[in-house]
Order: sequence, then C-alpha cells, then structure tokens
Amino acid sequence: MPTFADTLLEWYAREARDLPWRRTRDPYAILVSEVMLQQTQVARVVPRWEAWLERWPTAAALAAAPVPEVLAAWVGLGYNRRALRLREACAVVARDGWPEDLRELPGIGPYTAAAVGAFAFGRPELPVDTNVRRVLERTGFDPGDAPSPDVGQALMELGAVVCRARDAACEACPVAGACASAGRVVIAPRGAAGTKRERFEDSNRWVRGRIVEALATGAPLPDGIELGRLERAIESLVADGLVRRDAKGLSLPV
Ligand code: ADE
Repeated sequence: MPTFADTLLEWYAREARDLPWRRTRDPYAILVSEVMLQQTQVARVVPRWEAWLERWPTAAALAAAPVPEVLAAWVGLGYNRRALRLREACAVVARDGWPEDLRELPGIGPYTAAAVGAFAFGRPELPVDTNVRRVLERTGFDPGDAPSPDVGQALMELGAVVCRARDAACEACPVAGACASAGRVVIAPRGAAGTKRERFEDSNRWVRGRIVEALATGAPLPDGIELGRLERAIESLVADGLVRRDAKGLSLPV
C-alpha cells in the first residue's frame, strides 16, 4: 500500500504547476519568492519575481541597491518593511554567507527559514503556512520530524489547488482515500466570526502603500483619502522607520 506521502508526492510530480521558483535551488531566489508570496497571490508574484531577479540577480546586488529603488520596485507587493528586511538579510548573506540557522537573518521567521531550508538546501524541514496547516488538520496526515523537502511543496500545492479554504474538492483529491475528513469538510460561512474583511482600499496598509509609492515614484496620492487616515498612516510609517519627517517634509530613508 502506498503511504499518504507516496501518493501525495506522486500527484505533485505529475500535476504541480510549473512555477519559476520551483526550477531553481538558489537560496536567494527562493527567499525572494517566499517573502513575496507571504502577501501576494502566485499569479501576481510570477512576473514581479522574474523582474526582481533580473534587476538584482544576487543577494549582494540587492544589498547594494539604494533603499528608494528597492521600495519603488516593491510597490504593490504588500508591507514595505518586508522589502527592507529582505535587503538587510541579503546584506548579512553578502558579508557572511548563509548562516546554518536561517532564522538568524533579519526578518526571517520559522516559516521562511523552513521554506528556504527545504526548497534551496534540500533539508528535511516542513514550512507550515496557512495552506499547509489546513491540509494537515483536515487530512490528519503526520509528516513526521524529517519530511522529504518535496512534502512541503506538495502540501502547499494541494492546499492551493485542491484542498482550498472555501472549497475542499474532495472528489478531485489524490489523497482522499487516506484523508480523515474526505467528503465531510465543513466550510465556515463567509462573515462567520473572525472572517469579516475590511475592504483593502479602506485599510491602513493600503494608505501606507500609497504614501510610500508617492514618495518613491512621485505619483500623486489618490483622491479621497480622509485626512485623519492619512496622518495616522504617516505616523505609523515614521514610527516604523519607513518614512522620515523633517522640516522639509517627508522622504524615504536612504
Ligand atoms: N506559497 C508560499 N510558498 C510557495 C511556493 N513555494 N509555491 C507556491 N506557493 C507558495
């Protein structure tokens, strides 16, 4: 009898989407993909990741890039702080090489460390993001302490294309025969406690993004942002060190 992991890996080998970061083992390229994927959908990340690697092909190249250029290239990819931490991590790597424990790098948490460890260095580690956690919870699969590096990638794929948060698609699932909840996954209705989402355009993150974009590219701020919101967003950017405020006004850190 093939095990759950065998069946999953066989499906992954046959069906996996051909994503560009799956064709490399370069830890820098994989780190960039993982940081981008933390907030942005795969389809939007692909062209941005390709352009980023063309512009800054190595950790040393990114570490040497001026901050305003990095922030301008990050526009639309979510929290600007992540781009700055990525650049700082690359400065450490350019100086000292990749540390054994990747969590020593600025801004690299347990998830990203495990993803780079598994996908670049081939280590038996499991990066647990929301997709992977959901698939493990639903299926009852225990990957053990030292899963093959492909197991994480395969669980992510299953969570992204089959065992999705709002549509479990058990009839299309390769491991339904070994799944603890096959055919009886309960999906919480939209609007259930904790699932209500603020419209993105109303969020502080969106306003912060528009301010940094304006400072980085000279683009005007969109009309209609309420003044109080704008001021709060500026204050939070200044507090995070992402924007400087002095007598001449606002600027990006250099
Ligand atoms: N989301 C996070 N990491 C990913 C990866 N390596 N492939 C696809 N989706 C992901």
